[in-house]
Amino acid sequence: MARLLDAHNPQHLQQAVDALADGRLVAFPTETVYGLGADAGSDVAVGRVFEAKGRPADHPLIVHVPNVECAYELASALPPVAQKLIEAFWPGPLTVIVPRRPGVAGAAAGGQDTIGLRCPAHPVATSLLEACAQRGILGLAAPSANLFGRISPTTAAHVAEEFGDDVLVLDGGACEVGIESTIVDCSRDRPVLLRPGLLTRGEIEAAIDEPLLERDAEAPRASGTLEAHYAPRAKLRLMSADILQTALQVLGENLPKLALYSRTVRAPRGMLHRRMPDDAAKAAHELFAVLRELDAQGVSLIWVESPPSAPEWDGVRDRLVRAAAA
Ligand code: TXA
Ligand code: MG
Repeated sequence: MARLLDAHNPQHLQQAVDALADGRLVAFPTETVYGLGADAGSDVAVGRVFEAKGRPADHPLIVHVPNVECAYELASALPPVAQKLIEAFWPGPLTVIVPRRPGVAGAAAGGQDTIGLRCPAHPVATSLLEACAQRGILGLAAPSANLFGRISPTTAAHVAEEFGDDVLVLDGGACEVGIESTIVDCSRDRPVLLRPGLLTRGEIEAAIDEPLLERDAEAPRASGTLEAHYAPRAKLRLMSADILQTALQVLGENLPKLALYSRTVRAPRGMLHRRMPDDAAKAAHELFAVLRELDAQGVSLIWVESPPSAPEWDGVRDRLVRAAAA
């Protein structure tokens, strides 16, 4: 189990900053999910992140900054689209991919000539990043604090489950948003949506005043965009309400080790069931915690009712589709 620190205790926060300055790993809360942080300027520290997660070294990490000034230190330039996005959504659940300043944070960027930057809106993340900046650390490279391919953590306890005691975890409570940031690649001619999140396509397009392209084969590799990702141990299946209803009828009394996560479809008596909220933001907030909880019950199947097709559900739908592909 990783060691827990109280994010609201100044001495613990100081301990976290000291550990980071020393090249060690500290998991910390953001408004989206917990990140596994390391000094982005230290290739050794960043190497420990890849090792702890079991993540291939060519998968780039997002670098978290306390403000735009630090972003300018890490980027070779902030293209106009990135500037508009930063203006509209920072601090917040949005990551921009921009050209990287040569010689800076190469390991964090997985060797790419671009870098993913995000200024999170969580008071603990802000305090930590500001204290780090005062110690000369310009940013924290932090992927979601889970083992590669598994569900992102939204509480400190989730993080502690995944890592050994050489990882410190700043406990700042449950994450508000619950799914990872929206990622927009601003390093090419036209902006590309690499990963949907809480912000809708419409909100982003309104801020940049141009259409967002869909991710294509040319897009840089992004582990959060691999088809099979965010996987619980149980096999997850995503079904329309109609098909789910029929499948449950076919089962009749013969309940296998099955859990149900549905919004409109009612669970048969005796079945392990969580109701999906009608509100997309609420559903996102609890999604990963519910999947972990159902998984922990030892079921072999999780049947999930497909979310509505409205754009505010894009982030939740994306995570469920990927979890089902595993
Ligand atoms: O909400 C979030 O974004 C969380 C919190 C901790 O900030 N972080 C997160 O990190 O989800 P991670 O590493 O699990 O996902 C980051 C995604 C990956 O898909 C990665 O490949 C992509 O961002 N990414 C990072 N830098 C990139 C770059 N230079 N080019 C393309 N994709 C990049
Ligand atoms: Mg991740």
